[in-house]
Amino acid sequence: MAVNIRGRHFLTLLDYSPEEIRYLLDLAKQFKNMKRNGVPHRYLENKNIVLLFEKTSTRTRCSFEVAGRDLGMGVTYLDPGSSQMGKKESIADTARVLGRMYDGIEYRGYDQKIVEELAAYAGVPVWNGLTDQFHPTQMLADLLTLEEKFGRLKGLHFTYMGDARNNMGNSLMIACAKMGIHFTACAPKELFPAAELVEKARKIAEENGCTVRLTEDVDEGARDADAIYTDIWVSMGEPDEVWETRIRLLKKYQVNAEVMKKAKSTAIFMHCLPSFHDTRTTIGAQIAEKFGITEMEVTDEVFESRQSVVFDEAENRMHTIKAVIYATLC
Ligand code: CP
Ligand code: NVA
Repeated sequence: MAVNIRGRHFLTLLDYSPEEIRYLLDLAKQFKNMKRNGVPHRYLENKNIVLLFEKTSTRTRCSFEVAGRDLGMGVTYLDPGSSQMGKKESIADTARVLGRMYDGIEYRGYDQKIVEELAAYAGVPVWNGLTDQFHPTQMLADLLTLEEKFGRLKGLHFTYMGDARNNMGNSLMIACAKMGIHFTACAPKELFPAAELVEKARKIAEENGCTVRLTEDVDEGARDADAIYTDIWVSMGEPDEVWETRIRLLKKYQVNAEVMKKAKSTAIFMHCLPSFHDTRTTIGAQIAEKFGITEMEVTDEVFESRQSVVFDEAENRMHTIKAVIYATLC
């Protein structure tokens, strides 16, 4: 049966079947080709979308803005703190107001329950641009990048190193399980994903012929991986006080040349970005001064190496987000 996701929300890949994810990836490839070849695709003229951000962003915001404009749409950006939501107006009321004016709503913020509540009341598709629990649009970009590099997804061995119970760890575990990719979370047990989500992921993985593994051992985790992925050690919204413990817990999970050597010789390095791979950021410099480390989740050497595909992932955010907007509105 043909895939049709018109009118659907995009809140987590848990809600999407492998066929639907495949459809979005194929659509993104078509949009990428059109963009590269200068073929106009203003298929959604006269429609408008709103981007509601309660946390900061470079890639997600710019991807939604460019994708929306390429599709011929009007785009409104509401930055953290500039809407009434939460302070003077409830989530349900905000959703009903925006749903009367816009054809789709993107939300980046805190609890997954907020994006779910927006979706329950908006009456138009709501897209999750990152919550504390999930980052589904990033997943499409990462899957597209993996497929571009290896020509397939099924059967690949994917290792995520770092805070495996944050939005990226959770989302990558589900994305891999859905698409038949063997997933390993390599992290201290304090930062393993929640048992309930692991159980769900294992069930999905079983249906799709792959596995979900958790390990504290770096040798075991990195060995023979096709892709090694990491994320920042402290996520947006977490208090500064957690840096000390997080550095202590995650230091040995830094992706460096030694770790990359344990993976396959053809392995790639992935990161959703932004990344602390040097001290050329305010936070990077502060951490260096306070804790004496100049590189965090990944060394500059690996980040800048030929194995690194981080900017392909960043570009693919736009093509895949365009596919999500188009498929849910058309
Ligand atoms: N990867 C990602 O979501 O980046 P931004 O925080 O810049 O949107
Ligand atoms: N875990 C990170 C992802 C950023 C794209 C955060 O939430 O800050």
